[in-house]
Amino acid sequence: MSKNQTVTIHAPAKINLGLEILSRRDDGYHELRSVLSMVDLSDELHFTMRPDFEISHIDGVPGVSPSDNLIMRAISLFNERAGKDVPMYVRAFKRIPAPAGLGSASSNAAATLVALNHLHNSPLERSDLVRLAAELGSDVPFFLGSSTAAASGTGTTLTPLPDPSGWTVIVVPQIDLIAKTAKLYGMITPDDYTDGTLVENVVKNLSAGSTLPPDALFNAFSRPLRKLMPYVGKINRVMREAGCSHVALSGAGPAHYSIFPNEREAREVRQRLQPLLGPHDYVVVAAFRHSPLDVDAG
Ligand code: C5P
Repeated sequence: MSKNQTVTIHAPAKINLGLEILSRRDDGYHELRSVLSMVDLSDELHFTMRPDFEISHIDGVPGVSPSDNLIMRAISLFNERAGKDVPMYVRAFKRIPAPAGLGSASSNAAATLVALNHLHNSPLERSDLVRLAAELGSDVPFFLGSSTAAASGTGTTLTPLPDPSGWTVIVVPQIDLIAKTAKLYGMITPDDYTDGTLVENVVKNLSAGSTLPPDALFNAFSRPLRKLMPYVGKINRVMREAGCSHVALSGAGPAHYSIFPNEREAREVRQRLQPLLGPHDYVVVAAFRHSPLDVDAG
């Protein structure tokens, strides 16, 4: 592979189709059950090997220090484990709002591992990449697998599932929360624990190719998030007012979504939503994705 070759990856967003917390583990992490599904909303990332650079450089991800940037951490980890030392230039066109519970940083980290392995002619096996991914974050391994999967353990034990059909309307209220995920996990109490049967129900329905049961799209972070950010209660109300019969929270939020059988209905709801939202709230219509993350062909 030539030294200056660029690979491009469209790193997709995900939504959680239910998220239950069962307990707090001895290692301080939480035991969870969730179903994750990729949607057709992506960050576009270009990776180029730059032997002429002193260190790796990222453009297009403002406001994140290099030590917190999961792309940078993925580059360091890959180089360390694969014994490589070529600085990279990464150009990011971010379209997924973050941090929102849509997995943008995790997806970018997975894309970085795939891109570097491709550019270096695959020194690492897929299973090695999955191990590195788990070191980078609990949601990262999902982005190396199938477009829909059931997650258990800390979120890194994955079982592929058939993709849901339909379209999503995703609303991301503009909320700035530092260390949001860790903070929300810290607010979870035993009263928020459930036994996993709601997610099991989602898994059963997807496996059977049936429509998703909206009342099963429970998310354990809803209560602490509302407490921390009462504004998300308004988002919920406004989405229902605009015609969403069910509203669910993705990951640790604050992205909320609703599922529709077709694009027309989803776009109509989006139109009704727009004037009801604040000027900095974000709304997007996206179909469920039916292919895993990979380098772009061509
Ligand atoms: O794995 P990740 O870096 O995304 O996790 C961020 C934080 O969320 C962890 O430091 C931990 O506090 C919390 N967490 C947890 N249980 C999980 C996943 C994350 O308590 N299953």
